This record gives sequence, C-alpha cells and structure tokens, in this order.
Amino acid sequence: MRLAVAAVLGASLAGGACGHPAPPPPAPAPAAASAGPSLYARLGGVNAIHAVVGDFLARVAADGRIRAFFRGVDLDSLQTKLTDQICQAAGGPCRYTGKDMREAHADMTITDADFDALIEDLAGALDHAGVGPNEERELLNTLGGLRREIVTGRR
Ligand code: HEM
Repeated sequence: MRLAVAAVLGASLAGGACGHPAPPPPAPAPAAASAGPSLYARLGGVNAIHAVVGDFLARVAADGRIRAFFRGVDLDSLQTKLTDQICQAAGGPCRYTGKDMREAHADMTITDADFDALIEDLAGALDHAGVGPNEERELLNTLGGLRREIVTGRR
C-alpha cells in the first residue's frame, strides 16, 4: 500500500472585504465547498476510535511479523495514547501528550516492512468496524506520513 501525507485541510478562510472604498459586490459564496463533518465525526467520535484501536492492538499483538516489538508493552496505556493521537489528528477534541514519534520509536530499528504490517493491521480493524473507504484512506494517509519519523531500520 502506498501512503502519502494527505493535507486534508478543508476550506481555507475566504477573504472578506479588503477595506478599499466602494468595493465591488462580493461574489456569491461557494456552496459550503468542502466544509463537511470532520474526519473525527465521521469516524464516530472518541468511543468508536478507542474501540477500533483496541481491535487494532489485538491484531498487532497476534501478528507474527511484528508482535515481538510489543512484548512487555502496556497495551492499555498504548491504546489510550493512540486513541488521543488519532482523535487529535482527525480533528477531534483530544490532546495527545505522549512522546513525539521519532523519540518513541528511536531504538526499535523499525523497517518499512514492519511499518506496512502495522498499517495493514490498522486497516483490518477499520474494515472490521465498518469504517468507510474515504475515512479509512484519509486516516491511513495521515498516519502514513509518520513513516519517515518511525522507520529507522533497513530490511
Ligand atoms: C503510523 C504508525 C505508528 C503510530 C501512529 C504509532 C504511535 C505510537 C504511539 C502514540 C506510541 C506511544 C508513545 C509514548 O509512549 O508516549 C507508540 C509506542 C510504540 N510503538 Fe508505535 N506507532 C506507529 C508505528 C509503529 C510500528 C510500525 C511499530 C513496530 C512494528 C511500533 C511499535 C511501538 C512500540 C513497541 C511502542 C511502545 C513503546 C513502549 O511503551 O515501550 N509503532 N507508538
């Protein structure tokens, strides 16, 4: 799966009157261009995200390709941190206060293959929860942009 950083920024602020005398009448506002519900809302809010992350971590812990990384890790605490991180990244009200991604994964020598396996497990959990393809793509693109900070190993 190819992942790229998605700049899902929605509509920017439309310019208002510029202050010059006798400005021309403003053009009609575009009909709510891309201002729809946030990705956070479309994912179903924090409880839905928390549940998906729980399923995701169960998949990771059972995934022979990467489970060794998670041996001895407090998965409940990781579930909370990941929920906050995803909630915030999706435009929700949470605040992620954990380590930055480079620091958190610095000594793990994670490879691209490890990263892909984890993203696959997340996609499986999102599919299982019935998350729509657009929402799944937006979230995976956003998280995929973290690859450069997390992957430090070579195959
Ligand atoms: C988009 C991909 C990823 C995201 C968003 C992510 C996010 C996180 C977050 C938020 C933490 C908690 C940091 C803290 O303690 O403050 C964490 C820890 C961890 N991550 Fe990742 N991670 C990603 C990819 C990976 C991959 C590919 C692996 C290994 C295959 C991995 C292995 C771990 C482990 C083992 C910990 C726990 C460290 C500990 O508590 O001792 N992560 N990750």
